[in-house]
Amino acid sequence: MAENLPRAFVCGHPIKHSRSPMIHGYWLTQYGIEGSYQAVDIAPEDFSSFLKTLRAQGFVGGNLTIPHKEAALKIVDRLDPSASEIGAVNTVWLRDGLLWGANSDYHGFAANLDQCQPGWDKSKIGVILGAGGASRAIIYALQSRGFTDIRVLNRTVSRAQDLADAFGPTVSAHSLADAKVLLADAGLVVNATSVGMQGDEGLPIDPDWLAPETLVSDIVYVPLETPLLAAARQRGLPTVDGLGMLLHQATLGFERWFGVQPVVTEELRALVVADLGPKP
Ligand code: ATR
Repeated sequence: MAENLPRAFVCGHPIKHSRSPMIHGYWLTQYGIEGSYQAVDIAPEDFSSFLKTLRAQGFVGGNLTIPHKEAALKIVDRLDPSASEIGAVNTVWLRDGLLWGANSDYHGFAANLDQCQPGWDKSKIGVILGAGGASRAIIYALQSRGFTDIRVLNRTVSRAQDLADAFGPTVSAHSLADAKVLLADAGLVVNATSVGMQGDEGLPIDPDWLAPETLVSDIVYVPLETPLLAAARQRGLPTVDGLGMLLHQATLGFERWFGVQPVVTEELRALVVADLGPKP
């Protein structure tokens, strides 16, 4: 009976721009799983009751996005350490009558680099540009891979300092103006600012400061090649775009809800790339 098929969701407000239904829909077809994944628009005032009644609605779990990721921290029954440390829940699932919450962004970041640049984590020195929610997930990812020197550079240094205070002595806070010296011995730099998003030709740092051989990564994926990635590529540096992080973070939820660990294929990537660009 259709009612018994596993159903998952992505919940946000608004939600129509989400690419998650395309990603999970691809895997459901690929693995021949009779289940569904749908986008649901839930206003903040309705979110708590939505999340508390998942089972009654026939859901096995789902993804959360803006503006619900922080609110969920107080609603789920069990928090995976990824969610409590990053301070946001983006994946929930029911297990033995309890609602679990995790944050899969750190996994998405690391798994994407594993696929695109194996050995990326050999250098234990990383530079993160920006100090928002995305930076927290990347700090967690680098710490989980044993990075010992994580340098957070931000326009507003006090926000970077808040992250250093929260994540401990392997994380230090700096101004973006000091990037040149801080990049000199880093194996990896990640742009986690919003600089370079579609319609913004800006660069978070002077590209002349990029040290030779530093792996340059961006969490922005519209455009796929940001001005920072373009500048790095022109200098012959290895680069990784932000789309892979989105694709890889989705694997954790899919496995929890549908029992299959899905693979991020070139075909899936091409499908989502074709869908990028302004949506009506
Ligand atoms: P998210 O949760 O997606 O990471 P956010 O919390 O809005 O988003 O953070 C955006 C990041 O981009 C911040 O680090 C912000 O710097 P400030 O903390 O100083 O605001 C950074 N950012 C945005 N516009 C910027 C700009 N023009 N130059 C440098 N950094 C910028």
